[in-house]
Amino acid sequence: MGGSSERAKDRAQKKWTAVDRYIRDHLLQPDPILDAAIEASQSAGLPPIQVSPPQGKMLHLLARGQGARRILELGTLGGYSTIWLARALPPGGRLVTLEAEPKHAAVARANLERRSRRHR
Ligand SMILES: C[S@@+](CC[C@H](N)C(=O)[O-])C[C@H]1O[C@@H](n2cnc3c(N)ncnc32)[C@H](O)[C@@H]1O
Repeated sequence: MGGSSERAKDRAQKKWTAVDRYIRDHLLQPDPILDAAIEASQSAGLPPIQVSPPQGKMLHLLARGQGARRILELGTLGGYSTIWLARALPPGGRLVTLEAEPKHAAVARANLERRSRRHR
């Protein structure tokens, strides 16, 4: 009983992963700022638990679709989802993101600073 429900979960997970990969490979362009944020987070030893690129794009579209001017994010990690969300804001918009782990926050700051430099 437990075995077959584990196998069903495993199959479902594999399907989600395949769909996510398909969307990433066919609908998203490489993005130097986002890719650098992932690389820097990995190099710093942060856990790879950020949203996937399609999930980041989904967050971006949801925020844009709402016409969000202010965003509060809980759990920054390396700032990957933060960058996606920040890009949804109009001029003058504001995003606050909270991170409990100082090491994660330091990596995120550097990633966000890199993004800001590109937009100056
Ligand atoms: C799943 S990760 C966030 C991933 C990130 N949003 C992304 O997709 O790029 C969760 C983060 O929340 C942080 N966290 C956990 N509890 C928290 C709390 N109470 N306040 C602020 N941050 C917290 C963890 O340290 C971790 O970095």
